[in-house]
Amino acid sequence: EKGGYDTFMAKEIAEQPKAVSDTLLGRIGTDGRLKLDEMRLTDAELREVDKVVVIACGTAYHSGMVAKYAIEHWTRIPTEVELASEFRYRDPVVGPRTLVIAISQSGETMDTIMALRFAREQGAKVLAICNTQGSTIPRESDAVVYTYAGPEVAVASTKAFLTQIVACYLVALYVAQVRGNKYGDEIAAVVRELQDMPRKVDLVLDTTEEMKRIADELKDAPSVLFIGRHVGFPVALEGALKLKELAYMHAEGFAAGELKHGPIALLEDGVPVIVVVPSPAGRSVLHEKIISNIQEVRARGARTIVIAEEGDEAVVPYADTIVRIPACPTLLQPLVATVPLQVFAAAMATAKGLDVDQPRNLAKSVTVE
Ligand code: BG6
Repeated sequence: EKGGYDTFMAKEIAEQPKAVSDTLLGRIGTDGRLKLDEMRLTDAELREVDKVVVIACGTAYHSGMVAKYAIEHWTRIPTEVELASEFRYRDPVVGPRTLVIAISQSGETMDTIMALRFAREQGAKVLAICNTQGSTIPRESDAVVYTYAGPEVAVASTKAFLTQIVACYLVALYVAQVRGNKYGDEIAAVVRELQDMPRKVDLVLDTTEEMKRIADELKDAPSVLFIGRHVGFPVALEGALKLKELAYMHAEGFAAGELKHGPIALLEDGVPVIVVVPSPAGRSVLHEKIISNIQEVRARGARTIVIAEEGDEAVVPYADTIVRIPACPTLLQPLVATVPLQVFAAAMATAKGLDVDQPRNLAKSVTVE
């Protein structure tokens, strides 16, 4: 049932191009317009939304962080993202014009269920992004956009994460389409780019052997740091979470610009720092900034493993190791940049002789608060 792979996780990583493509299937018309059949919220309701709050746990929370960048950029609606377990215990400002997006692979995570119930009590509309048909979260929500990752067996989420991000893009672009805004032309171009992402996710699977080799070299490191900016920040957090979950290692993700405000004190000779580099195209400021961040960590003796686009030559002088990913618009980059980090975490666990599919202390779905 592992289809020739050693672990379910390896199989699920390899299934990501299909998972992404299945999640896009039937949702983009030949005219490039989006159709979300299970959306159920009316155009009038979507036009009234004045705030979006994304709630989720674990890996799904990281997809929610990506959603914030996409929703604010494409729709201009202020968006917050919050851990579901924190949300209802802090008296959040939620009302009838708030759209709450609950993201969950299983649809049964109790923290997320309780948060969505609270949101609905406050009169908010809840849209679920979920991988499990008929589970509690979509049943209790006003609308649902299903992800089509298929069953995910490995405890650590991989393909579900990528499809959650895709669903977030679809929701953001759909809301932008309904409301109409100054980014109209950009949206058509993004939709075309999105359709090309399954191919790019497939290409990035070619980094698998390289990531395994890097993992073998780093398996005894006391800790691994991940840095990124913009949507590379949630990718860095996800890379660190995967490593904690699977290899039981100290790992942390940081917004690269925040490093100098404290965490840089952690750096010493040989500490591996994995850098997620934003696309150099169109957003050169962000790219320049991360280059100075790489210089900062290198100057403290860190060993830099740089995840950068094909053709990005500017990073070469600052990288001990470069891992190449296909070029794509910055907002879409998490779909390719996350994949080598998933492989890396699984390979670290394997190198340490650990159970990749069933890490200690974790459950696939946590049904208690
Ligand atoms: C955790 C799982 O406890 O729940 C994580 O171990 C997962 O992998 C998190 O990301 C959220 O789960 P779900 O099903 O709500 O996406």
